[in-house]
Amino acid sequence: MEKRPVIIDTDPGIDDALALAIALFSEELEVKLITTVAGNVSLENVTLNTLRLLQFFEKKVPVAKGAASPLIADFVDASNVHGKTGMEGYDFPEPDESLLLEEHAVNAMRRVIMESPQPVTLVPIATLTNIALLFAMYPEVKGNIKEIVMMGGSAGRGNKGVMSEFNVATDPEAAQMVFQSGLPILMAGLDVGQKALIYPQDTEEIRTMGKVGDMAYHLFKRYRGGSFQTGLKMYDSCAVAYLLCPELFTVEKTYVGVELQGSMTAGCTVVDLRGYLHREPNASVCTDIDGEKFREWFKKSMRKCI
Ligand code: BDR
Ligand code: CA
Repeated sequence: MEKRPVIIDTDPGIDDALALAIALFSEELEVKLITTVAGNVSLENVTLNTLRLLQFFEKKVPVAKGAASPLIADFVDASNVHGKTGMEGYDFPEPDESLLLEEHAVNAMRRVIMESPQPVTLVPIATLTNIALLFAMYPEVKGNIKEIVMMGGSAGRGNKGVMSEFNVATDPEAAQMVFQSGLPILMAGLDVGQKALIYPQDTEEIRTMGKVGDMAYHLFKRYRGGSFQTGLKMYDSCAVAYLLCPELFTVEKTYVGVELQGSMTAGCTVVDLRGYLHREPNASVCTDIDGEKFREWFKKSMRKCI
């Protein structure tokens, strides 16, 4: 089976770490490049975390460092959810710095996309600054991108503002550029991620699955995305789950815009499921997920890790 080439844009981040593990150990995906962007914590920390994860996973995937701040907005992190370093709770090995490219993430993405014999899928599980810069600087890449499968936005309420989700609200202008890119976009938003829950009994099972499972267990103890007792929210794994097991999701094609100027709602995704705006659909939005099947899929995927 030919593997599907993907580039993952990320800000590890505890839920990012799990999404990366599942993608890197899946038989169906070829992770050609990982790019980092300031988000959950600073660019330096998320890049270090990515390199540490790769060393721990024993995987050699090139990493390129991207934007250190949003296009216009001030940078505000989510260390309240992921801990000060972004991945607290586990003693990771020292990173293999040789995996870090000198190229900027935007240039590395361009090169990998243009050189790929098969169209590449972009998987942003962080704020969209790098992807927006890529399209602004190198629009020719669009010709060899299959689709964008992203975690971000919300068809419900928010976690950064009343209506706004962190990955979109951190850099709303970038998100708007991505939704207007003309490329096929699949949005797995916050409302769906809130139903992608891992319970204590799952966590105990995962703990026994090998060193990645044990690491996950320790990160989960520190993660504040949901609660260890009542369910941890695996937001970023939803994007990877969509790639590997789309039947977990209910999806609707619709128009998505980003509110840039709302005095109370700036940074929210306006997901026009009822067609009030009379605009052509520009995205496929996950409107539901089968939580039980997701848990089974998640554990099955974790079993493939070392
Ligand atoms: C998103 O924000 C980050 O904190 C998580 O890693 C996820 O990508 C959820 O809103
Ligand atoms: Ca993330």
